[in-house]
Amino acid sequence: MNASIALRNIIKPLVSPAVFDFWASKLVANASWQTPLATVVERRVEARDSVTLVLRPNGHFQGFSPGQHINVTVDVAGVRQTRSYSLTGVPNKSRLLSITVKRIAGGKMSAELCQRLRVGDVVEIGQAYGEMTIPADYQGNWLLLAAGSGITPLMSIVRALTQQDLHHSVTLVYWGRTRADFCFFQELRALSASQPRFHVQFVLTREPEPLPDDVQGRPSLALLESLLPDMATQRTYACGSAGFVETVRDLLSDRVESFSSEAFTPLTIPFTDAGTVSVRLTKSQRTLELPVGKTILQGLEEAGVMPASGCRRGICNTCACGKGSGVTENVLSGDVSAEPASALRICISAARSDIALDL
Ligand SMILES: Cc1cc2nc3c(=O)[nH]c(=O)nc-3n(C[C@H](O)[C@H](O)[C@H](O)COP(=O)(O)OP(=O)(O)OC[C@H]3O[C@@H](n4cnc5c(N)ncnc54)[C@H](O)[C@@H]3O)c2cc1C
Ligand code: FES
Repeated sequence: MNASIALRNIIKPLVSPAVFDFWASKLVANASWQTPLATVVERRVEARDSVTLVLRPNGHFQGFSPGQHINVTVDVAGVRQTRSYSLTGVPNKSRLLSITVKRIAGGKMSAELCQRLRVGDVVEIGQAYGEMTIPADYQGNWLLLAAGSGITPLMSIVRALTQQDLHHSVTLVYWGRTRADFCFFQELRALSASQPRFHVQFVLTREPEPLPDDVQGRPSLALLESLLPDMATQRTYACGSAGFVETVRDLLSDRVESFSSEAFTPLTIPFTDAGTVSVRLTKSQRTLELPVGKTILQGLEEAGVMPASGCRRGICNTCACGKGSGVTENVLSGDVSAEPASALRICISAARSDIALDL
């Protein structure tokens, strides 16, 4: 048993993990009982409005696979905020992690990370999650489609794949507004020059001063077919805004070998019903009236209740809580359920009747 586990066992009856974490972090920057924390060890500008943060996690972080994401929690103006960021590096001996954050106009967390966080600051992180990783048994061609900050998990996959001798092709098509918005531009060009089977195509959507060789335009079948004559052999991962992901799914899902995607933008609810439902929070013994036209998470937050959350798109499971009763709709799939549930993801659920939640 190591010394820190022994110490925890001795003082466990005397102090709660949260209290221990509070005082431990005052003494040693990223010490904690069980919470993964990470210290910022490097900060560099990656592209216009995008910053890469290199993080040194404490011993509670359990590692990751290329393509996965972490939740990052920081105080913004005195309020704890959590958002998801993709890990852009590959697992390495020094255990360092990196995330690349694009500042969003009016965004709370992205502004904090891009503009205010400094080397030496400590952030809370979650364990890595996400299914869009590199399957051990897959040996075929890859088509990676990125738009804007959707490049981040795909960059990790590109870095991991190009570390080995490639026996199949890896094609990355990366859409950005202008040339100044592309992250990892030089590295991607250098990789494509040194790895004959890795190809990168940058595509501009709003470049004010295009050069004669620039490829421009929104995703289209004509563009993708010109780059990839053998579409049917491509395992395809797409990442970007919800609109981008929907567009490329419509274009490609029937044409490629397999298609998976992840969207980074917040959900827009497909219904605008007026009216409210009653939500009983059984643990905190409160009852609230929430609007039906919002997800349960949004409704609770607007009512001042702050349940744990992360990705806000149904991927990380952080917001999952028990549902004792009531009818809920999964706003992504449209599935409606009147059954009790042990893990209802409230970030993608809307109440369709009065409900009771274990919160
Ligand atoms: C699985 C996953 C991985 C992600 N990885 C990354 C990453 O590697 N790098 C990165 O920069 N971001 C990433 N994001 C997005 C990130 O989690 C935040 O949504 C983003 O940083 C904005 O947070 P904010 O607090 O600044 O904005 P908020 O204060 O939450 O929102 C402010 C305004 O911006 C809009 N908005 C919020 N998020 C976005 C967005 N992503 N694009 C456009 N408009 C938005 C909101 O609708 C709102 O109007 C990822 C999201 C998910 C779900
Ligand atoms: S916040 Fe990630 S699943 Fe709900």
